[in-house]
Amino acid sequence: MIIALPKETALHEKRVALTPETVAKIIAWGFRIKVEKNAGSAAGFSDEEYRRAGAEIISGTARVYTDANIICKIRAPIPEEDKFLKKGTTIIANFQALDNPKRIKKLAALGTTCFALDMIPRISRAQSMDVLSSQSNLAGYKAVLEAVNRLDKAVPMLMTAAGTVSPARVLILGAGVAGLQAVATAKRLGAQVYAFDVRPQVKEQVESLGGRFLAIPGDETFENAGGYARETSAEYQKKQKAAIAEQLSKTDILITTALIPGKPAPRLVDKEMLKLMPKGSIAVDMAAAAGGNIEASVDGRETEISGIKVLGASNLAAEIPNTASRMFSRNIYNFLSPMYNSEQHKIIFDFEDELINKTCICKDGETR
Ligand code: NAI
Repeated sequence: MIIALPKETALHEKRVALTPETVAKIIAWGFRIKVEKNAGSAAGFSDEEYRRAGAEIISGTARVYTDANIICKIRAPIPEEDKFLKKGTTIIANFQALDNPKRIKKLAALGTTCFALDMIPRISRAQSMDVLSSQSNLAGYKAVLEAVNRLDKAVPMLMTAAGTVSPARVLILGAGVAGLQAVATAKRLGAQVYAFDVRPQVKEQVESLGGRFLAIPGDETFENAGGYARETSAEYQKKQKAAIAEQLSKTDILITTALIPGKPAPRLVDKEMLKLMPKGSIAVDMAAAAGGNIEASVDGRETEISGIKVLGASNLAAEIPNTASRMFSRNIYNFLSPMYNSEQHKIIFDFEDELINKTCICKDGETR
């Protein structure tokens, strides 16, 4: 079989879907791997390292795609790449299928079979393949570093001969994978950390990391059967905004991560609420691409809103491209290896397996 690794085309995307480590493991299955020239260079992996791992380095995108049975990418192919796609080709990538149904229809019409790694069911067996978790984890860590770098205060409590400095206060809204890593990272830096989520069972996880959980009065929970959040009621939103507003007046760093799969991100902080934050505070909106948790945040940009610096940052894992690529690449290997048939030296996708079935978003000309 031939696996192709094209260079990513999306703006600011520095990650690469397969690292030399994984390439060597896949080549040991008896496969060929074609790597586009400089595909890994932005993530710190040279063509020479891929060559040493056994890959063929190819100049020219069209030649990378030719003959490929499986294409591995971080991001779904953009329309400009359609001319390279052939009927029967398998693509493994992040597709954000729920947000892009038209694009998936087009990929189906081209006759490709697409596996969306961002739709892998969150079951124990799939944890090692879960790109949402591996990338969100890094993003949560990086969000804290980005904010701390912009803050004009020290984060930890400092007891010095010149007096004592109290620790910075960090507020995390949304304590899923990214939020919990943000709690842990801010805590390690010595901040006083507060976190909030609509799923109350998160309280224990926040506290185990040394954070304090902000409870909203009442006993409503907003979790769906899959363990994800669902939209909150108007009454709850009112109570939630009041609780957030009270905390914002003593918050130096605000990090928002709240998402609802397939829906716009919940608006948790409006412009008026930002005015409550102390001068010099920093906000990072990790949900900016989904409409934003903070009113008027712009994805990929730092803007000033109500006098507060707000960084719209939905793709922070791409800012740690080396580690993020290593994790993504291992996720792909762990997805493919159970499907490797050692007698036929082939990947044979078993559509009876819920992991394959639920991850496949188009096949045989149809979306699924
Ligand atoms: P996500 O990225 O979809 O959302 C981030 C967080 O925002 C979630 O914790 C969500 O509850 C919260 N949120 C949504 N609306 C909110 C609102 N209005 N106000 C405040 N917070 C709000 O979530 P993520 O990080 O992908 O995790 C979702 C679930 O999946 C969690 O229960 C997590 O533990 C679970 N999970 C399971 C895995 C497994 O079993 N393999 C792996 C990773 C996560």
